[in-house]
Amino acid sequence: MRKLVIVGGQPLKGRVRISGAKNAALAVLSASVLAGEAVVVENIPDINDVRVMVDLIKSLGAGVAWQGGDSVRIRPPATVGSMPAYHLAKKLRASNLLLGPLLAKFGRAEIPLPGGCNIGVRPMDLHFKGFAEMGAEIRLEKGCIRAHCKKLRGTRIYLDFPSVGATENIMMAATLAKGKTVIENVAKEPEVVDLANFLNCLGARVRGAGTDIIKVEGVPSLEGCRRYTVIPDRIEAGTFMVAAVATRGDVELENVILRHLEPLRAKLGEAGAEIFEGEDRLRVTARGELRPIDIKTLPYPGFPTDMQSQMMALLSTVPGTSLITENIFENRFQVVDELKRMGARIKVEGRLAVIEGTDHLHGTQVKATDLRAGAALVVAGLMARGTTEITNTSYIYRGYHELDKKLKALGADISSVENGA
Ligand code: UD1
Repeated sequence: MRKLVIVGGQPLKGRVRISGAKNAALAVLSASVLAGEAVVVENIPDINDVRVMVDLIKSLGAGVAWQGGDSVRIRPPATVGSMPAYHLAKKLRASNLLLGPLLAKFGRAEIPLPGGCNIGVRPMDLHFKGFAEMGAEIRLEKGCIRAHCKKLRGTRIYLDFPSVGATENIMMAATLAKGKTVIENVAKEPEVVDLANFLNCLGARVRGAGTDIIKVEGVPSLEGCRRYTVIPDRIEAGTFMVAAVATRGDVELENVILRHLEPLRAKLGEAGAEIFEGEDRLRVTARGELRPIDIKTLPYPGFPTDMQSQMMALLSTVPGTSLITENIFENRFQVVDELKRMGARIKVEGRLAVIEGTDHLHGTQVKATDLRAGAALVVAGLMARGTTEITNTSYIYRGYHELDKKLKALGADISSVENGA
């Protein structure tokens, strides 16, 4: 086990290249199981969650080869003998994204109830409802989801909440269903659109991704794809934007899609950060005093829940009272206790966090409780006085490619050392 040691107070300066999007890569890798021939996907971030997903699809019989850098070649399984390995599926919430492809292609799927970050109840009722309406039978047995069907059939499905995972799973299942599937009140996240583009690259007929309604005309089989490039990670980009502001630095981000960062750009601007936009790049700086702000997390294009903890770290030293309302996950204020250990003044009442800006945070020993909480503690450590030691860093490396190296290149005093060193 390693820990991150950060000596705070260095303004971040320079350029950083943003990696491929974790959540898009996980969905695209699951969808590759549906392909009829080999696919090559580029801009896949080499992070722990992706490695688990790669091992999961290998456990289904897919051949997967990293082709140097961030490109992966996948030979999809033609038949399914075994089901996803239990010990791997337990590690990754997104293993549930294999259900739709397996059901559609092979007529059955068995997946252990997925694990992942502990940020709330995270039920799967909407996924199940969609599959059931398409004709599948779903049972929960001994901690396993077992689903089977003869042939999925297209239908009309209304999601009670625009869940990202349910939208993606049902959309993938519908590509090989008989007839047309219309999914209403779907998630509009950029990762959903990226997945739809990938599916269409394989010969699927998906329309409307990015709007409230997705329509999928089922086809008998999908093909391969010579080259698909995953979108940049808006949450990694957002974390660097917040870190740049928190350290009163001046950072240029390369390989970003500006539209995907709009909800965050708007809020950082409201707080007093200066943001200059280029074509696929963006420069973030903060010179003057920052102002407190109110944030409500919402489905895209609202403010992303995955940026909430990092913003909380930043706001903890902004003079005045800031408010954060978490509307997506009920257990996403776990970072509060750790930030308080660093001197933050935060009160939580249900889904509302009230943050009274303090003059400065001080370094101490803290523990990452989930991926984004870990990122928030890195932001806090970068702006704190003294030394911060973050343990449980495996959470952080589930989602950030070489975070310490990228920050070091921007001038941060950060090192990853063996715990106990
Ligand atoms: C995805 C992202 C995660 C992000 C989240 C919200 C991946 C791999 N992960 O997670 O990083 O934080 O979207 O943007 O893409 N819900 C139900 N029933 C369901 C499904 C979801 O009630 O069947 C609820 C969840 O408990 C949660 C809310 O819907 O409260 C949002 O969840 P969802 O959009 O499904 O998130 P994930 O796909 O798990």
